[in-house]
Amino acid sequence: MVLKFAYIIVILMIWCMYPLTSAQYLDETITSSQYENMTIARPGCDRKCGNVFIPFPFGMGRENCYASSWFEIDCRNNNTTTNSSGEQKPYLKYIDLEVKFIDLWNEALIIMNPIYQSGKNCERDKTGGINLKGGSPFVYSARYNTFLAVGCGNTASFWSNGEEVRACASMCNGDDLIKVANCRGRKCCQTSLPRHLSEYNVSFDGQECAYGLIIAVRLGYWNLTIKDVKHLNEVPAVLEWEIPFDTFYSNISFLIDPAVAICYNTSLKQHPDYYSGKLCRCRYDDDDDFKGSPYIRGSCKGPPPPPPPDIKSHGKWAIIGIRMK
Ligand SMILES: *[C@@H]1O[C@H](CO)[C@@H](O)[C@H](O)[C@H]1NC(C)=O
Ligand SMILES: *[C@@H]1O[C@H](CO)[C@@H](O)[C@H](O)[C@H]1NC(C)=O
Ligand SMILES: *[C@@H]1O[C@H](CO)[C@@H](O)[C@H](O)[C@H]1NC(C)=O
Ligand SMILES: *[C@@H]1O[C@H](CO)[C@@H](O)[C@H](O)[C@H]1NC(C)=O
Ligand SMILES: *[C@@H]1O[C@H](CO)[C@@H](O)[C@H](O)[C@H]1NC(C)=O
Ligand SMILES: *[C@@H]1O[C@H](CO)[C@@H](O)[C@H](O)[C@H]1NC(C)=O
Ligand SMILES: *[C@@H]1O[C@H](CO)[C@@H](O)[C@H](O)[C@H]1NC(C)=O
Ligand SMILES: *[C@@H]1O[C@H](CO)[C@@H](O)[C@H](O)[C@H]1NC(C)=O
Repeated sequence: MVLKFAYIIVILMIWCMYPLTSAQYLDETITSSQYENMTIARPGCDRKCGNVFIPFPFGMGRENCYASSWFEIDCRNNNTTTNSSGEQKPYLKYIDLEVKFIDLWNEALIIMNPIYQSGKNCERDKTGGINLKGGSPFVYSARYNTFLAVGCGNTASFWSNGEEVRACASMCNGDDLIKVANCRGRKCCQTSLPRHLSEYNVSFDGQECAYGLIIAVRLGYWNLTIKDVKHLNEVPAVLEWEIPFDTFYSNISFLIDPAVAICYNTSLKQHPDYYSGKLCRCRYDDDDDFKGSPYIRGSCKGPPPPPPPDIKSHGKWAIIGIRMK
């Protein structure tokens, strides 16, 4: 009995830590169906780019389709010679990275993040990093991502704010078919990310070609092998987002209907006591059968009908009159 209770607690804790499950995100039909019948874009704005739904405050095209330039999506046809053939793919314009999925309810964004590589015998040399600073409403999620380095006799260093915040080293024995799930120092290694990460770059020290990447391991991308990593340019990673105060008050607050939506402060950036933005939720949505967008008028469900009058409530009213000393 006690054991059973403990199991339930553990399951609940895991669920709270990782509300996004891999099944949700990897199965495109599940993720997309959540938005299928919903009003997610502002009037007169496109709601989809290729296969990806673009819910406001994200948006594309005209200026009033997105909340501010941080949220502007560029829908690009990857065939530059024609607009009819080739796939349409959304890019977060401000960082120029492809977007795979925008989650309104978990405040997450799946992007394709570059793999850096450098050293002898590399297919190509790509060094550097990503900078989401300068007031941006995005950080790399420490919950869903891991820093992974692939190499042989190398050390990979992970830098942020001019400091080396993480490093890991890998030995040469091991083979290329090792799954990145089993990265424990042979041919590859991994470390957690610091919280509130908004800027990083990667450097390598060693002989052979080395690879460094941020990857969304919690979303089930552990099945990649070392060999896969060597041939990919980018892998999925999760960004968390919020709406910065200035954007919220100037461009979003008047769209929110306080009768059905509720907004709260968020602190995505460094200081836990310091609020950097806001997010909203529909008050009356239940997770299972209905979800609406708090940022679009008329999308949230209305309040439930008032319960039928209850005889017991007479008793409660009587108690309110008592004053405590
Ligand atoms: C969307 O609406 C269509 C037509 O009413 C319906 O067949 C479909 O099941 C709905 N999808 C979802 C996810 O509710
Ligand atoms: C265009 O898309 C195809 C298929 O998804 C891909 O193989 C190709 O690399 C893309 N080209 C560019 C320029 O992005
Ligand atoms: C782009 O479209 C043109 C015309 O449809 C086609 O001939 C060409 O092969 C396409 N290129 C790519 C890279 O898909
Ligand atoms: C490309 O797009 C333009 C503007 O949307 C349109 O006028 C033109 O017909 C399109 N070309 C093709 C080949 O679809
Ligand atoms: C790493 O980041 C710092 C500060 O952002 C920058 O000065 C440096 O050039 C970057 N290093 C590389 C290899 O890009
Ligand atoms: C990893 O798993 C995903 C989802 O199950 C699948 O789409 C992908 O093809 C797999 N990749 C490899 C290299 O097996
Ligand atoms: C509000 O929206 C306008 C028009 O899209 C934009 O120019 C402005 O920068 C936005 N304001 C903020 C604070 O994001
Ligand atoms: C939300 O943040 C703003 C700005 O920091 C602050 O003025 C306000 O009191 C905060 N609201 C709550 C409920 O903490």
